[in-house]
Amino acid sequence: MSDATSSPIGVFDSGIGGLTVVAEIMRQLPDERIVYFGDTARLPYGPKSNETVTQFAIQDAEFLLEHGVKTIVVACNTASSVAMDALVSRYEIPVIGVIEPGALAAVSSTLSGKIGVIGTEGTISSGAYRKAISKLDRDIEVLETSCPLFVPLAEEGWTDREVTLVIAHEYLTSLRDAAVDVVVLACTHYPILKQTIAKVFGPSVRLIDSAEETAKEVADRLGGLGLARKGGARPEHKFFVSDVPHRFREQAERFLGAPLPEVSVVTVDETTCSGG
Ligand code: DGL
Repeated sequence: MSDATSSPIGVFDSGIGGLTVVAEIMRQLPDERIVYFGDTARLPYGPKSNETVTQFAIQDAEFLLEHGVKTIVVACNTASSVAMDALVSRYEIPVIGVIEPGALAAVSSTLSGKIGVIGTEGTISSGAYRKAISKLDRDIEVLETSCPLFVPLAEEGWTDREVTLVIAHEYLTSLRDAAVDVVVLACTHYPILKQTIAKVFGPSVRLIDSAEETAKEVADRLGGLGLARKGGARPEHKFFVSDVPHRFREQAERFLGAPLPEVSVVTVDETTCSGG
């Protein structure tokens, strides 16, 4: 057993949404320690340019490395869509994004060969899911839609309001009418709105939660590399944000399913990003 097994898993997101991935890692890998960074000062990443999101993602990863993490989980679909190549080529430790696991689950679930993908503008315009799905099966048709208002609705906790259902219909009806049988929730916030989204698509459409699939991938990668922590003292987790920790704490329970003990504020910018 190498020492690295007891090192924490680093997870970052533009803000709160990555806690849906943390919740799944905690459920599937209860012995692992987690260091989480939510870049609340600079969110949202969804509407920003690829260059800006890549720069932020590198800075977020550098911050986690300062905490001695054994792997980095990019728990943000937008950052995973545009910054994975930059991150993977930069670091020796495994960097795990949310796209491949979600794409794989979608491809294994579809019977009709028509998959819907919903996410932020950045994720959808990158075509990252389309590319990942085509790599697995060229014959699958991928239909993509961005749903920018879902992020603020999830953050407000408006999960089952009438207005949320009206907006969901507005965004998703054309996808439903196109007869997709699988839809990837390609944004960290969308699992919070899963019930409302399911109302639009009905019971015959399977919704893929990339948080769940990503945690499975983390378990596989750590297990395969002999880096999994097994047993020992109850793991302690650390949570950091770049701004407004009280808002993060207020929202955390909804995303994590449990209250957060403590959240620290840190500055993460070019000064923490060695090598630019
Ligand atoms: N975390 C982002 C994602 O999964 C959603 C929030 C944002 O736009 O920053 O794409």
